[in-house]
Amino acid sequence: MSGSFNDNVTEEIKSRCNIVDVIGQVVPLKRMGSNYKGVCPFHNEKTPSFVVSETKQIFTCFGCGATGDVFEFVRKYYNLDFPGTVEKLAKEYGVEYVSNYQKDSRKELYYQINREAATFFFKAFCQTKNPGLTYMLKRGIDPTTLKKFGIGYADGEWDSLYKYFMAKEIDVKILKELGLVSESKGKYYDKFRNRVMFPIINTRGKVIGFGGRAIDDAMPKYLNSPESPVFMKKNNLYGLNLSRQDISKENCAILVEGYMDVISLYQSGIRNVGASLGTALTENQAKMLRRYTKNIVLSYDADSAGQAAALRGIDILFKEGCKPKVLHVTDGKDPDEFVKKHGKDAFKKLVNQALGFVDYKISVLRKKYNLNSYEESIEFLEEAAIVLRQLSPIEADIHIKKLANEIKISENAIRLEINGNNTQEEQINHNYLDNREEKPTLDINSSILPVEKNLIKLIITDYKYYKLIIKNENAFKSNYGKKLFSVISSFYKEESELDIMKLQDSLEPDEMMVLSDIIDNVQLADKEEQILQESLNKIEVEDLTEKENSLLMRLSMADEEENQEIIKVLTEELMNLQRKKMERGK
Ligand code: GTP
Ligand code: MN
Repeated sequence: MSGSFNDNVTEEIKSRCNIVDVIGQVVPLKRMGSNYKGVCPFHNEKTPSFVVSETKQIFTCFGCGATGDVFEFVRKYYNLDFPGTVEKLAKEYGVEYVSNYQKDSRKELYYQINREAATFFFKAFCQTKNPGLTYMLKRGIDPTTLKKFGIGYADGEWDSLYKYFMAKEIDVKILKELGLVSESKGKYYDKFRNRVMFPIINTRGKVIGFGGRAIDDAMPKYLNSPESPVFMKKNNLYGLNLSRQDISKENCAILVEGYMDVISLYQSGIRNVGASLGTALTENQAKMLRRYTKNIVLSYDADSAGQAAALRGIDILFKEGCKPKVLHVTDGKDPDEFVKKHGKDAFKKLVNQALGFVDYKISVLRKKYNLNSYEESIEFLEEAAIVLRQLSPIEADIHIKKLANEIKISENAIRLEINGNNTQEEQINHNYLDNREEKPTLDINSSILPVEKNLIKLIITDYKYYKLIIKNENAFKSNYGKKLFSVISSFYKEESELDIMKLQDSLEPDEMMVLSDIIDNVQLADKEEQILQESLNKIEVEDLTEKENSLLMRLSMADEEENQEIIKVLTEELMNLQRKKMERGK
């Protein structure tokens, strides 16, 4: 996926193979001076005008103009795309390399096995009376909701699922990798036994893992699938597959801790919910939510662990440009218990009363200090000032007024504390803000060209730009550029209105990040036409440069004696091209 990885592979291949051998396998070559010569495989000819240079490791045909390196030859000769070319050569020359194709088809198999396991658990849950169903009904979840979430039951037999998959000749290694089966002393057994099964489904509808809740007092209470090639906890949120539309519609997401909280709230009619999967909220989860809404309400358990998680969570969300709030469940230990006891409207009221990011932080600080003590008030203010420094002056102003009123200290004193001369704390603050810019999880800028970003932005802005840009097939050169363009094209082929959400759903997480970056950061500023022209121009210049290099390459290989005529033609062509490039470059 990453450019550098592929670059390493292509470099490695180049260092191991000789273009003369590769071409020699399919085109009879004869040594001519320092080069090799043969009949061109790319056009019909009788006298050989196809030259391969061993020193330059390139081929060129003076008849049809085909030219390039070993990758270009293999691509063209075997009719492959670039990844296919790399794969073929990597295999032949023993370069270790897992292609995206292989990765994708492996992943598809894993998804399919997980889906079959989910169906297996689901059937066991629905068909006959079983402890799983009894347990869930007792917890007040009705059959419609259970079905909606695909809840299942893993029986206590130790090998039901294992046998099921063995009958289908599924590789046990994969079952182990997915955490469905465990091994002990050479014997295999089901990992999930006598548990209620919560399938974890990503926003593209793929089953990526499971959570299994004990029905009796077996430990652990929740057993979760391990990380696998298809399951990365840090990249997913439980329930988002069902709730993301509601999150968009409400322009608000409620984030809870547990599977049961999600299901309970959803059943009560509060559907804009999701849960981080038994871990603290991660940067990637925040990024994911940010695609649907800025407004995130954290509703964690009221205990101290819940509070610590909320404090960490709001910082992460804030860094991703969200407006986090924290909800305090007043009665009951978690949202599940609360909503069952008090109902939907009462919970909604709590959502409306949720404390903003700053208010919450200050309220936590406030509990730490005795504000009747002068010294402690000062310490409190000093800490509060650090929080307020993260805000714009206008936002900070409101809080400054509130604090001044509460502590009975002048607003100016607080302002001084915030902006003041404490360089050490200012340093902390700066680092904080800098981090926000410097820590992308993926180097978006190196993997897609700025000009491509402009074009993608134009295309998603208006169908008419898409129509203009498709005329330039070669506009996209980077992997991300090509991928985004092809996915967007497939949507535009169906409809001239683009549904950004559907588009995002059909992308891999890293691709989505690239797209989000474009949506958020590429500004057209009413200069669409100008940007379009400049971008297309730039691409044309790049195309011309490519052609120019190819002509130069052919000229460099032409034998002065033998190819006088050709040299004349090529030189003329080159001059034309360079003239055009000059004009475009203006
Ligand atoms: P109930 O007791 O069924 O209501 O569960 P809950 O959803 O309220 O769970 P709780 O608040 O105890 O925990 C929140 C989440 O943390 C769960 O949904 C799980 O994802 C995770 N979790 C809880 N207990 C365990 C455990 O023993 N092991 C692991 N790996 N995760 C757990
Ligand atoms: Mn609970």
